[in-house]
Amino acid sequence: MRIESNKPIEHLGAVRVHDVRRLLELDSGTRVQTMTGESIGIQRIDRAAIANVQQRLAIVLPVKDEDLKVFEGVLTGIPNDCLMIVISNSQRGEIDDFRKEQDVLERFCNTTKRSALIIHQKDRYLGEALANCRYTEILDENGLVRSGKSEGMIIGILLALLQGKDYVGFIDTDNYIPGAVWEYAQHYALGFSVADSPYAMVRILWRYNRKLSGEFYFKKWGRVSEITNKYINNFISTKGKFETEIIKTANAGEHAMSLQLATKLTYATGYGVETQELMSIFEQFGGFLPIEDEVVAEKGVDIVQTETINPHMHEERGEDHLIQDMLVPSLSVIYHSPLCQETTKQLITKHLEEMDCIGSGGEVPRLRIIPPPQTADIQKLAGALEEHLSDYYIPKESAMLPRWPITSRKTRQVKKVIFTDLDGTLLHPVSYSYAAALDSLRSLQQAGIPIIFCSAKTMAEQQVYRQELGIQDPFIVENGAAIIVPKDYFRFSFSFSKIVDDDFLIELGIPYQVIMNKLESLHDRCEAKITTFGNLTAEEVAKVTGLNLMMAGLAKQRDYSETVIIEGTKRQIESALSSINEMGLKYTFGGKFYEVYDGGDKGRAVKLLVELFKLSFGDIYTIGLGDSLNDVEMLAAVDLPVLVQTVNNRWNNVKVKNLKRVIGVGPEGWSKAASELLGS
Ligand code: GDD
Ligand code: MG
Repeated sequence: MRIESNKPIEHLGAVRVHDVRRLLELDSGTRVQTMTGESIGIQRIDRAAIANVQQRLAIVLPVKDEDLKVFEGVLTGIPNDCLMIVISNSQRGEIDDFRKEQDVLERFCNTTKRSALIIHQKDRYLGEALANCRYTEILDENGLVRSGKSEGMIIGILLALLQGKDYVGFIDTDNYIPGAVWEYAQHYALGFSVADSPYAMVRILWRYNRKLSGEFYFKKWGRVSEITNKYINNFISTKGKFETEIIKTANAGEHAMSLQLATKLTYATGYGVETQELMSIFEQFGGFLPIEDEVVAEKGVDIVQTETINPHMHEERGEDHLIQDMLVPSLSVIYHSPLCQETTKQLITKHLEEMDCIGSGGEVPRLRIIPPPQTADIQKLAGALEEHLSDYYIPKESAMLPRWPITSRKTRQVKKVIFTDLDGTLLHPVSYSYAAALDSLRSLQQAGIPIIFCSAKTMAEQQVYRQELGIQDPFIVENGAAIIVPKDYFRFSFSFSKIVDDDFLIELGIPYQVIMNKLESLHDRCEAKITTFGNLTAEEVAKVTGLNLMMAGLAKQRDYSETVIIEGTKRQIESALSSINEMGLKYTFGGKFYEVYDGGDKGRAVKLLVELFKLSFGDIYTIGLGDSLNDVEMLAAVDLPVLVQTVNNRWNNVKVKNLKRVIGVGPEGWSKAASELLGS
C-alpha cells in the first residue's frame, strides 16, 4: 500500500495526533524499490509488514439483528490473517437470529479454513465471569452485559486480550461493501506500522460517494461528525495557544487500537464511545493533568488518522438516530470531561438547545462511563470462561487460549524441553547420520522429554526424521518461519495460522513466492554467482548438498525461505549479502548455504513455543543444541545453550551467554550433552 506521509503532527502532552493521511494505492506489489526509494511525502508499506500486524490483530464485529447476507459479505472482507471475534446482541428465542449468525460464521470458517469466536453479549456465563472478575459496571441488574455497541466492543477487547492478540480493530457488520471492510483492516495494519508507540490508535475517515446513495443521509452524517470534531477541536484549542482542527475522526466507528492502549481507556455507553476514547486519551496522557503512567508518558500515544478509498455504505437508520444516539452522546462526553472548560461547555449547551436536543436551560445528559478493561481481573476471567470456551469457538476443536492460565496442570517438578538443530548437530555435518545420538535420544524419549527440531530444513524433510525416530513433538521449520504443533499435543487452545492435516501451523515468516520474486533481481544487482534451490532440479540439489535424491526433493519444498548458493570473491559475496538486506530480506549462513527469509527467526519461534510449554507444564527448563551461527538466536532463547563441534573437532565462533561447548562432532556431542542432562 502507499499512503501520504510527512503530514503534520500535533503534540498534546504525551499524545501525538497525526493529521489525516490519504491512501494512494491499495496494493503496492512485491517489486523491490530502487535505491532512490519513494517520492517525498509518500510511504510504501510492504505486504509482509501488513501481514505481520494482521496476524496479531483481532477484528471485533459487533452485530445486532443485521441482514445475514450483509453480515456474510462483511466476513468475506476480513483478511485471513486476522482473528474474527463476533459479539452479537441479536434476538434469541423462537426466532433465533444469533443461531443464524453462528451458522453463517461456521459455514464461512469451514470453507475458508479459519477459526473465529462468536459470543452473545447476553450470554449468562459471560455475565457471571465478568462479575467474578469484578468488572461489574458493564452489567445490568440481572447480571447480564448491558445492550449497546460499546459494551460489545469491550467484550471484544477482553476476548482479544485473552487470545494473546496485540491489536484490536472494530468493523460494523452493516457494511454493504466487502472491499471497504477489507480496506479498513489494511488501514489498521498500516496505521500500526507507521506509529512509533506501542500505545497506538488508528481512526478511519470514510470517503463516500454522495451520488451512490442517500445524499440526505450522508449530508446529515457529515454534519454530525463535523459538529463533534468542531467541539473536540475547540476543547483542545482552549487548552493550547493555537486553534486547531487536527481531529477529523471524532466519531470514527471504524478504528483500531493496540491492546496496551485499549485496556487503559474508559468507554462511554452507546455511540459516544469513539469520542470518549479520545477524551480518555487526552485526560490521561494529554498533559493537562499529571500523567500517572510513566511508561506511556515516555513512549507516547499515537493517534493515526487515515482516509479510505472505498465508499462507506451502511444501513441507514434515519436522522433521529444520528442526532439523538450519536450527536448528543458525543457532545455529552466532551461536555462532562473533567478537562472541559466553561467556554466549550457553553457552546455545546447552546448548540444542543438550538437543535432542540435539550430544552432551554436543560442539562446535557451524562453518559455512564465504563472503567478501563485492565481493571478487570483477567486471570479470573480466563479461568471462569475456560470451561465454556468451546461453545464460543468455531470450529470447536480449535478453541484457543494462549494466555489463559492452566494452573491445575502445573507440576512441581520442572519439565525439561530440548530444542535441537538438525544439520551438523543431531545429523552429522558430512554423513547426515544421527546414529551416534540414537541411544541417548531414546533415553530422552523414555524420560518423556520433548525433542523439538529447530532447523532450516523444510516441513517435508523434518517429517521424514520425525517419523524415523518416532518423535511426535512440535517442530520449527525453515529457520523459525513456522512452528508446527500436532493437533492434540497441547490440551489447551492457542492461536495458529492454519491447519494442515493433523497439525496446527503458526506462521511467522513471509511466503516463499514473495522471497523468490525479490531474489529474481539479485542476479542483475551483483557480480557473485547466485543459485537458488528453486531453480535447481532435485538431482542438482542432491549433488551440491550430498543429500540423497528423495531428501533433495523435499529440501526444495520450501514455504517461507529459499536456500541460496553464493559464489565469488569475498567482496562479491559480501556485496550480494548486503543487496539481500537492502531488498528487505534477511539471511543466515548454515555452513554451506545461505537461507534467505523474512519474518520469523529461530529465536522467536523458540520463545513462542516455550510460552506454550509453560502454559502446559508451568515452569520448564529449556536446552538448546546447535553447531553454527544460524543457531545463535535459538541458543540465546534457552536456559542452557549447548554447542557441538563441527568437522575437524572445532567449535564454530558462536557467542552466546552461558554457552556450554561439548566435545564431539555433531551427533556425538549431542549424545554427550543429552546423557549429562539425563543424569542431572
Ligand atoms: N454487539 C452489539 N450490541 N452490536 C451492536 C449493538 C449492540 O447492542 N447495537 C448495534 N450493534 C452493531 C450493529 O449491528 C452494527 O454492526 C454496529 O454495531 C454499528 O451500529 P449502527 O447502528 O449501524 O451504528 P451507526 O451506523 O449509526 O454508527 C456507526 O458509525 C458511527 C460513525 O462512524 C457506529 O460504528 C458508531 O459507533 C460510529 O460512531
Ligand atoms: Mg451503521
